[in-house]
Amino acid sequence: MFDGALPGPEKWVWPAFVVEGRGRREPIASMPGQCRLSVDELIRDVEPVVRSGVGGLLLFGVPDASRKDAAGRRAFHEQGAVQKAVRAVKRAFPELVVFTDVCLCAYTDHGHCGVLDARGEVDNDATNAILARVAATHAAAGADVVAPSAMMDGQVAALRQALDREGFAQTLIMSYSTKFASSLYGPFREAEASAPKKGDRRGYQASYADPRQALLESELDEAEGADILMVKPSLFYGDILFRLRERTRLPIAAYNVSGEYSMLIACAERGWGDLRGLVRESTMALARSGADLLISYWANRYGEIFG
Ligand code: PBG
Ligand code: ZN
Repeated sequence: MFDGALPGPEKWVWPAFVVEGRGRREPIASMPGQCRLSVDELIRDVEPVVRSGVGGLLLFGVPDASRKDAAGRRAFHEQGAVQKAVRAVKRAFPELVVFTDVCLCAYTDHGHCGVLDARGEVDNDATNAILARVAATHAAAGADVVAPSAMMDGQVAALRQALDREGFAQTLIMSYSTKFASSLYGPFREAEASAPKKGDRRGYQASYADPRQALLESELDEAEGADILMVKPSLFYGDILFRLRERTRLPIAAYNVSGEYSMLIACAERGWGDLRGLVRESTMALARSGADLLISYWANRYGEIFG
């Protein structure tokens, strides 16, 4: 229940981008303060985040362009960046809750979140089988929570079944249950090099003009066995968060996406607002709307903003 206080650091999850290799630290121009990191550098950056009390880490893999293929196979490789990062992070920080993004868009050469059929359309069921395989490799590496973001129908059920079958009944699923087709993902797609080459994601992401369908998507995921629901983006969607809060007893995560992060930075850089004030006010809006967890790029700057 909202109690008027800014959410403590334990409610925050830091989304981080991980690349293969060593000694790599690539600043993301569209997201000041965020970098693509190899596993060794990630461990270095996670340390102060853990010290600030932040409760979770959400890992996104960014494979080198040469590793991409039509089926996104690098996504389920045991030596992939995410699988390695999970093992290393859990070894170094066993108490940190490690979430992994489960999607194919960074791994496919065409940039869609799933595999394509002969007509060039996303093949929902073939994609679910691959996502389930990806999630199982994350769980095997030690991920606490897998987070499917591809928006395929039935993806939560497919993951739950595969995880239970392979001995990972304890692994939780945080579904990107209400994810809108949004203009606020631009900086992230630059960070991940994951923009679709052709077409868009409106075939599988929700329409912001249809709130009933958006809420139904979360209800279906709950019925399929999701442990945590999500609204994404979050700042333009306080009404959805609030209504979902009244409909479910599951925890709800608000994903404060890349465009929301970079927009406040751009505003502050122009001298049109105070960064700390902007972030604190927007964070309170998410807490007031009913978010239990905040997935936010501000998490690795928690001390600077909330200290
Ligand atoms: C795609 C995915 C996206 C984000 C997380 N996973 C964007 C998209 O649909 O292109 C966006 C996160 C952000 O903007 O911070 N599976
Ligand atoms: Zn995707």
